[in-house]
Parts: sequence; structure tokens; C-alpha cells
Amino acid sequence: MSSYAITGASKGIGREFVRQLAADTNNTVLAIVRDLKSPGISELASNHPNLHVIKGDVTDPKSILEAASAAAAITGGKLDVLIHNSNAVDLATAFSNPTQLPFDAQATRAIFEPSLSTGVYGGIWTTNAFLPLIEKGVQKKIVHISSAMADLELIKKTGVSYSVPYSVSKAGVNVQVTKYAAELAPKGIKVLALSPGWVDTWEGEKPPQLLQANEIMLKQFQAVEPELKGQIQPEESVRKSLQVIARLDSETSGLLLSHNGNNTRWF
Ligand SMILES: NC(=O)c1ccc[n+]([C@@H]2O[C@H](COP(=O)([O-])OP(=O)(O)OC[C@H]3O[C@@H](n4cnc5c(N)ncnc54)[C@H](OP(=O)(O)O)[C@@H]3O)[C@@H](O)[C@H]2O)c1
Repeated sequence: MSSYAITGASKGIGREFVRQLAADTNNTVLAIVRDLKSPGISELASNHPNLHVIKGDVTDPKSILEAASAAAAITGGKLDVLIHNSNAVDLATAFSNPTQLPFDAQATRAIFEPSLSTGVYGGIWTTNAFLPLIEKGVQKKIVHISSAMADLELIKKTGVSYSVPYSVSKAGVNVQVTKYAAELAPKGIKVLALSPGWVDTWEGEKPPQLLQANEIMLKQFQAVEPELKGQIQPEESVRKSLQVIARLDSETSGLLLSHNGNNTRWF
């Protein structure tokens, strides 16, 4: 019997982690969401007695500490695997190149804020809040969902010059993961940055701008993977990611790996 906590579980990849993990009735699954009424997750919870939905905002230290306390009350103070998946971006500037960012300190900070708050600061607060539970767990694994958009080789080869705050935040996440891995290795705790692939998590019909952006990205990504046809579905991303998490050990702790289990094939 294993226990898992997943942040950002209301939709997309986070909710798919919850769906696949809760399908095994031997697992105890803790879905951390900002809004307990998020329709996708409350519907799942009503069909799975082993799934518990907990309120928690990773950008608020008090809120995520309370979420960890609520989790401890359910699991008896222990947790096997923490998956920090939450992410937010400033959509208005997501496709800006670095030279287009404003010469305005306040505006620049505001553009970086959602990504840094969820990925970098949120990653620290979530990890530190759940660490006492992980220390008492059996598997002792902490996973931060990162992105190949922070892989320097991939940026160079594909020419993806936009998505600056998101990529910078994920690069920070990757460094933090290695720092945590170095600190926590003596306690037998493994920490991984995991890129889930290029995944279609848009809900509903895609607006024309998004379809156009996806076309541009596909052409750029094909520079490294000519056979790539498009985004994968959350089911495939999470199924493969869970295999990578299952294999996580002291050798791979501290690395950024893709859902394919390596740092060469990102799609
Ligand atoms: N999709 C891809 O192609 C792709 C590729 C590489 C990496 N990733 C990474 O995979 C992860 C999941 O991506 P996704 O596509 O599934 O994203 P998504 O559909 O946008 O979902 C993001 C999740 O983060 C939550 N979130 C946002 N702000 C939050 C906050 N302040 N506190 C707590 N939760 C918050 C959202 O919850 P609310 O409903 O409360 O807003 C939502 O559940 C992210 O870390 C992303 O960077 C995705």
C-alpha cells in the first residue's frame, strides 16, 4: 500500500496522476487543489474512497502547511510520494521573446511572478511542508514536474526563444531539485525533476491563436524529433511518468528526466 500527494490536481496532468493512482485501490491518494469544488476532481473523489481532496495553494506557505497537516491526519503522519505539479504562467507574455520584456521593474516582476510563485517558491514551500511525512514514508520520493523548455540543448536546437519566465522558473526548479537531492540523500530521500512531454491539457475547443501557436511549436520541436506528430494525451504522459517515478533511485535522484526516462528524448 502506497500513499501519494499531488498538487495542482484540479485538472490536466495533475488530475490524470490522481485518476491513474486512485484506480489502484491499494493506494491512498491525496489531491491538493485550490478550489475544493473543482468539478473534475470532486466527481473522481465521489467514485474513489481511497481519494481524498485537500485544499492547498502552493503559493501560500500557510495554506500548504495546513494541507500537509490535513494529509498527515489521513495517512497517520506519513507519505510515500509527493508530486509537485502546480504551475501558472502569465499568458499575455507567454510568447514574448527576451528582448520584448519591458524596461519596467514592476511590470517585469509581475510577468515572472506566476511561474516563480508556483514552481520555485511553491516548490520549496510544498517540499518543506510535506518533508516530515516523506521522512516517515517507505518510498521517500519527491517529484517536481518540470519541463524540457528549461533544457539548454533543446532551446538551442529548436530555437524556442519565447516562454522566458516559464523556462527560467523550470530551470530554477531543476536546480532546486538537485539541491534537495544533495541535502536529503543521507536520509534516503530521492528527488526528481520530471518533464511530462508535450501534453494536450487544454479543456474545450482550442482558440485559433492556440492552434497557430501549436503549429509553430510542432515545427520547432520537429527539429529534434522529425517524427513528432503533435501533443500526447495526459493518459500516455502520466502512465510513462509513473514508470519513471517507480524506477527513481539514488542514482537518478537530482536529475531532470523526461517521461521516457532519459534526458535526450523529450517528446
Ligand atoms: N502540458 C504540457 O505540455 C506540459 C509540458 C511540460 C511541462 N508541463 C508541466 O506539467 C504540469 C501540469 O501541466 P498542465 O498542462 O496539466 O497544466 P494545467 O492544466 O494548466 O494545470 C495546472 C494546475 O496547477 C494548478 N495551479 C495553478 N496555480 C496554482 C496555485 N497558485 N496553487 C495551486 N495550484 C495551482 C491549477 O489549479 P487551478 O485549477 O486551481 O488553477 C491546475 O490544477 C505543470 O507543472 C507544467 O509546467 C506541462
